[in-house]
Amino acid sequence: MDYAVETFQLSKMFETKEKGRKRVVKAVDHVNIKIGKGEFFGLLGPNGAGKTTLIKMLCTIILPDEGTAKINGYDIIKEPYKVRRSFGWFHGETGGRSLYWRLSAEDNLRFYAYLQNVPKDVAKRRIDALLEFFGLTEDRGKLVKEYSTGMKVRVMLARALLHNPPILFMDEPTIGLDTISAVETRKLLTALNAELGKTIIFTSHNMFEVEQLCQRVAIMRKGRIIVDAPPSQLREMLREIRSVEVEVREASDLQKVAEQLVAIPVVGKVLEIKNNAYGHVIRLQVDNEYEAIPEIAEKVQRLRVKVSAIRQSEPTFEDIFVKLASEEE
Ligand SMILES: Nc1ncnc2c1ncn2[C@@H]1O[C@H](COP(=O)(O)OP(=O)(O)OP(=O)(O)O)[C@@H](O)[C@H]1O
Ligand SMILES: [Mg+2]
Repeated sequence: MDYAVETFQLSKMFETKEKGRKRVVKAVDHVNIKIGKGEFFGLLGPNGAGKTTLIKMLCTIILPDEGTAKINGYDIIKEPYKVRRSFGWFHGETGGRSLYWRLSAEDNLRFYAYLQNVPKDVAKRRIDALLEFFGLTEDRGKLVKEYSTGMKVRVMLARALLHNPPILFMDEPTIGLDTISAVETRKLLTALNAELGKTIIFTSHNMFEVEQLCQRVAIMRKGRIIVDAPPSQLREMLREIRSVEVEVREASDLQKVAEQLVAIPVVGKVLEIKNNAYGHVIRLQVDNEYEAIPEIAEKVQRLRVKVSAIRQSEPTFEDIFVKLASEEE
C-alpha cells in the first residue's frame, strides 16, 4: 500500500550543554509510523516530546541522524524537492510572522505562489478558489494587519495550499488562538480533510481537540511513540482517569491537608500539588467525582480549611503515562 507518510527507525539527537556538561537528548528515537493517504492523524505529547522535531524531519527542514522517511512515496533524504512539492506546512507559533501584514491577503498569496514557482495563470485560479474556500473573497483586498486572528489563520492555511499539496503538516495550528478562532480552525481542517481529501498530520497539547478531530492518535513521550490508537481508545482511557482539584486559598500545611483528604475512603492518591494564581491546588485521583466532591467539601469544612473551589479536573499526559506504566506491570 502507498502511504502518505512512512517512517523507518527515524531518529534525531541533539547535543546540548547543561552547566558546562554535555548532554545528549534523543528528540526522536527510532520512530516507525505509517499514515495512510487521506487520514487525519493527530500527534500528541507534552512539551519536549519530539513532535516538532519529527515534523521538521518530515518537512526536510532538518536531517535525521538515523533512519529515513517517505512522504507521498518520496524519500526525505534522497528526494527532498519532490517531498517539498508534496506537503504544505503550517506552524501555529511562528505562523503569524509568515505573512506580510502591510500587504493584502491576495498579494500575500500571489507573492508566495511566485516563490513556490506556481505558474501565473494557475496561481490566479488557485488563489481565487482558496479565497473562496476560506471565505475571504470579500476581504481579499484588505491589508492583513486589519484582519482578525481567525482571518489571518485562514490566509496562512491558504498559503500552505498554494501548490495544491496532498499532505498538510499542522504543528499546533490552534496554539494561542482565542476559543472562536480555534473552533473555526478546527472546522476548516475537518473540511480540508473531508472535502478536499488532504492527509493531515496535526500536533497538539490538547487531548480533547485531537480526540475530536482525528481518525488516529499517537502519543509521543521522550522521542518515542507510546500510543497509536483510534480516538475511541483515547476517549476510553481519558474516561478512566478521573481526578478532582481542590483549590486552597491559604494553608500553612498543604501536605497535611492533602493527607487528610486522601484519608477519605472515596479518594485515591494525591496526583499533584501545584500553585496557581489563586492559591494552591491539590489534585486527587478519584473513582467517581460525583461521590468524591461532596465528601471533600464536608471534610474541608470540618478542617476549617479555606477552599475557593472543588472541581473535576482534566487528565494530564503524566496521568496517561502513569496509567500505561501501571497496566504494563
Ligand atoms: N535545535 C535544537 N537544539 C537542541 N535541542 C533541541 C533542538 N530542538 C529540539 N531540541 C530538544 O529536543 C527535544 C524535543 O523537542 P521538540 O521541540 O521536538 O518537542 P515538542 O514535542 O515539539 O515540544 P512542544 O510541545 O514544546 O512544542 C526537547 O528536549 C528539545 O529541548
Ligand atoms: Mg513543538
